[in-house]
Amino acid sequence: MPGYEWIGDKEREQVNQVFDTGILFRFEFKDERKGVYKVREFEEKFAGFNGVPCAQAVTSGTAALKVAMAALGIKPGDEIITQGFTFIATFEAIIEAGAIPVPCEIDDTLNLDPEDFRAKITPQTKAVIPVHMLGSPARIREIIKIAHENNLIVLEDTAQALGASVDGKKVGSLGHAGTFSFDFYKTITTGEGGMVITSDPETYIRASEYADHGHDHNPAVGRALEGRNFLGFNYRMTEMQGAIGLAQMERLPEILETQKNNQLKIRNVLSNIKGITLRGIPSGGVDSHTHLCFFLPDSSSAAEFHKCITSKGVSAIYFKNNLWHFLHNWEHLLAQKTAWPGSFPFRKPYCESEISYSADMLPKTEDYLSRTIALPISLKLTDAAIDKACGEIEQAAKAIL
Ligand SMILES: Cc1ncc(COP(=O)(O)O)c(C=O)c1O
Repeated sequence: MPGYEWIGDKEREQVNQVFDTGILFRFEFKDERKGVYKVREFEEKFAGFNGVPCAQAVTSGTAALKVAMAALGIKPGDEIITQGFTFIATFEAIIEAGAIPVPCEIDDTLNLDPEDFRAKITPQTKAVIPVHMLGSPARIREIIKIAHENNLIVLEDTAQALGASVDGKKVGSLGHAGTFSFDFYKTITTGEGGMVITSDPETYIRASEYADHGHDHNPAVGRALEGRNFLGFNYRMTEMQGAIGLAQMERLPEILETQKNNQLKIRNVLSNIKGITLRGIPSGGVDSHTHLCFFLPDSSSAAEFHKCITSKGVSAIYFKNNLWHFLHNWEHLLAQKTAWPGSFPFRKPYCESEISYSADMLPKTEDYLSRTIALPISLKLTDAAIDKACGEIEQAAKAIL
């Protein structure tokens, strides 16, 4: 959650450089812009941070998923397996692509369960979208292995986990492509914005063309004369957003370090409380520390625990009841209400199997979420505030566990 907590002089200075040129558009105006290409520079820095050669900036994390799917060749009717605990945008983007989201369970990492993923594969499955939720990595090595055995695309939704890694590699860089969000609640923010990263130049070129009305970005001719290989859309980031992204990238190491220090102080206290189990982190995995998630023994103690600590001013989320992050609570998805007539894309001829959804289709996810408390880790937490939160948590544990 830090991006919005640290907006200030660095961002202002970067945006002023854009206003000094008067060019808010990321392309063209070679003479007027005096070498200022903020979005391009942001893409380069972002790719470098994540250890990949290519990054394509777009307008949001939802757009990033849509652009990545187009770039990876996902088509109407394809089944895409993803977890039922995610922000609804993951499902929305799949549906916008005309594809069919197939909900999968989570495991103790609170991310996609590899075994349920394997069980949900059908002849129509084209891709899997593991979502690294609440800052921490999924069992991505196992997921990639299963995907590889079944010739499936892996698109990592990394909106919530910039900076997390597995075996020294940043999440988002391990599958065929990774997507990020820079909305107000993310590790870095550009107000709204997103990024697609990939190590595959062909996927990158398709993403860059799709996100810009199909322009093939031929440097030898002016924009008006550029060619196009297929129809695209407009998901272009503005120079103001690129400028803010650059300032936020400069802050990123300190953001990650600060949230790590804050999270570890609370984690140390929690790990000594009997009856509390911390969320699993896969072997070789490094958390980005945006949240601290833990399990209580059962749903009634978790609900009571949540009520108790929030009433004492501790910021905490009980995701089982959250309206936007758990399939169980998405009545419009369950009823297959899309913006198109006839529930497109859920019916034949697009969808082979005419999938149906129900609130109880992910019992394991429901069990995990009913026992989970998530503490958002703020950059602005003082030692006194951390001590107070830990004290309230210890008191609640004494009373409830
Ligand atoms: C897991 C996940 N995917 C995608 C998105 C969509 O990002 P945006 O809000 O930038 O469209 C979000 C945003 O919260 C998210 O948490």
